[in-house]
Amino acid sequence: QLPKAVTIKEVGPRDGLQNEKIVIPVEDKIAWINKLSHTGLPYIEVTSFVNPKWIPALADCYEVATSIERKEGVTYAALVPNQRGLEKALEANIDEISVFMSASESHNKQNINKTITETYPILEQVVREALAEGKSVRGYVSTVFGCPYEGHIEIDQVLKVSEKLFEMGISELSLGDTIGVANPRQVQNVLEQFLRVFPKERLALHFHDTRGLALANIYASLQMGITTFDSSLGGLGGCPYAPGASGNVATDDVNYMLKQMGIETNIDDEKLLEAAQYIEKPLNKKLMSHSLLVHSSN
Ligand code: HMG
Ligand code: MG
Repeated sequence: QLPKAVTIKEVGPRDGLQNEKIVIPVEDKIAWINKLSHTGLPYIEVTSFVNPKWIPALADCYEVATSIERKEGVTYAALVPNQRGLEKALEANIDEISVFMSASESHNKQNINKTITETYPILEQVVREALAEGKSVRGYVSTVFGCPYEGHIEIDQVLKVSEKLFEMGISELSLGDTIGVANPRQVQNVLEQFLRVFPKERLALHFHDTRGLALANIYASLQMGITTFDSSLGGLGGCPYAPGASGNVATDDVNYMLKQMGIETNIDDEKLLEAAQYIEKPLNKKLMSHSLLVHSSN
């Protein structure tokens, strides 16, 4: 029994742009996010309040967050690694705060310069203060299906980190296939373990498409009852602190697959296509999603 409707969370302006070689002008980002707001997407992760030395492409986080149009019904989220980031995100009146860490010790260190144990109290304080300010908080756990430094990560380790994040008070956890190594059978095995402990409504899946298996992995997740997926328009993206991480699964391809399967996404296909084409110009490259390739060959 497949779900009747799915929530697609657009992470292109954050996960997509953080790994692009070209830093695009802030006006283009703002205009692009405004276009995304009118596609029917209910959720847009617009930036990260991280150290700009670590992620130069998102150094304009504050300006982006304070200049975009806030369309009613759309949730505008941003990544926050620590107290300093939270202060800025609150000042910019971000709707939802996303905290993030890794199930793998070495990826956590590479990505946020802390051990897993050192990370917990930092995120705990961020979540506590964000909730006190009336914000909802989402959590990410990275390297759920494999780590660029350590390879296989034990499911018990992933569950332990996830449990900690839920204890802090996050409302949803996004399970990251950071370097796109997952396969559908593994997804089902991992979800089986997760669903013993956490309700499916609280879980999202975040697939990178490094090996072309992201749509198959989404299908496997749908069969397990998952109804929230992260994606980037046109397949933009990657993690700069995970060698070999390529883009997220493309929003337009996910949307196509779901609609063809009779699963509602509430997205306007034409407007989505226009938004994808819009960002190709400042990026100075063609996006490589299947939907865009089909469109440009017609
Ligand atoms: P650090 O260097 O250990 O931080 O970085 P620190 O606390 O020691 O401070 C050092 C300097 O950074 C200080 O400045 C701070 O003020 C500044 P200085 O005194 O040297 O001039 N600083 C900040 N500046 C701006 N905003 C802040 C901030 N915090 C400190 N929030 C830190 C620690 C976490 C900040 C750093 O490692 C960092 O920014 N990391 C971000 C890495 C990142 O964004 N990675 C990509 C996102 S995660 C991802 O892509 C995975 C995901 O998609 C899921 C998946 O696919 O698996 C979510
Ligand atoms: Mg990612």
